[in-house]
Amino acid sequence: MRRELLDKRSVEIRGMFGRIAHRYDLLNRVLSLGRDVGWRREIARRVAELGPRRVLDVCAGTGDVALGLAPGPTVVGADFSLPMLARARGKAIRRRRAIGLTAADALLLPFADESVDVVTVAFGVRNFEDLERGLAELVRVLAPGGTLLVLEFSRPAGPLGPLLGWWARAVPPTVGRILSGDREAYAYLPASVGSFADARTMCGILHGLGLGEVEARPLTGGVCTLYQGVRTNRRKEGE
Ligand SMILES: C[S@@+](CC[C@H](N)C(=O)[O-])C[C@H]1O[C@@H](n2cnc3c(N)ncnc32)[C@H](O)[C@@H]1O
Repeated sequence: MRRELLDKRSVEIRGMFGRIAHRYDLLNRVLSLGRDVGWRREIARRVAELGPRRVLDVCAGTGDVALGLAPGPTVVGADFSLPMLARARGKAIRRRRAIGLTAADALLLPFADESVDVVTVAFGVRNFEDLERGLAELVRVLAPGGTLLVLEFSRPAGPLGPLLGWWARAVPPTVGRILSGDREAYAYLPASVGSFADARTMCGILHGLGLGEVEARPLTGGVCTLYQGVRTNRRKEGE
């Protein structure tokens, strides 16, 4: 799948995640060699430090981030793929974790302005049809003083970068085809990572949206990056 052919229309992305939902967790563990659990734990650790009352986890998928934050704050997970949300619901019931789950497009959230203390999103924003618009929507629902935490794949600097790029183009499509029956979805993975904004661009966008204390912390040598920003301003009248 060539970079310019990436189709990020909501209908395509929603359909793709719906098709792989039944194997999504297994493939995460296999393809990251189990590291994905630790990456999400970094979000949970940061949220615990912040001690919020209300957390919204956007692009919640099968619920691993949202479930990792409960019990504690009131947590709602939002995603536009019903098969992914059904998996999250099953896990919440099995683990006896009380979280809210709602079907929603991250670019048009059904939440009031300034209504949550922390917004988290793991491996979601690179799928947004319009990255800046999506991030602006996440900032809209954040209360002043609230924190946005974005975990996303990135491209490591140095020799690890090309090596990982080669691995990502070769391995996930084949393993994805074998385990989920959907080669295309796992060819989308390296293509979407390869064309995603670098840390400098991401931090620039977050600053531009009025966030302060913007940070980008590379994890596992830069395989992914945890971005953070604090909403400093109130929404102006008429905005
Ligand atoms: C790679 S999965 C990540 C799931 C989960 N956050 C995790 O850490 O495993 C991306 C998820 O984002 C959802 N998604 C992508 N774009 C979205 C959008 N615009 N609105 C809502 N959900 C979206 C997909 O349905 C999918 O469940």
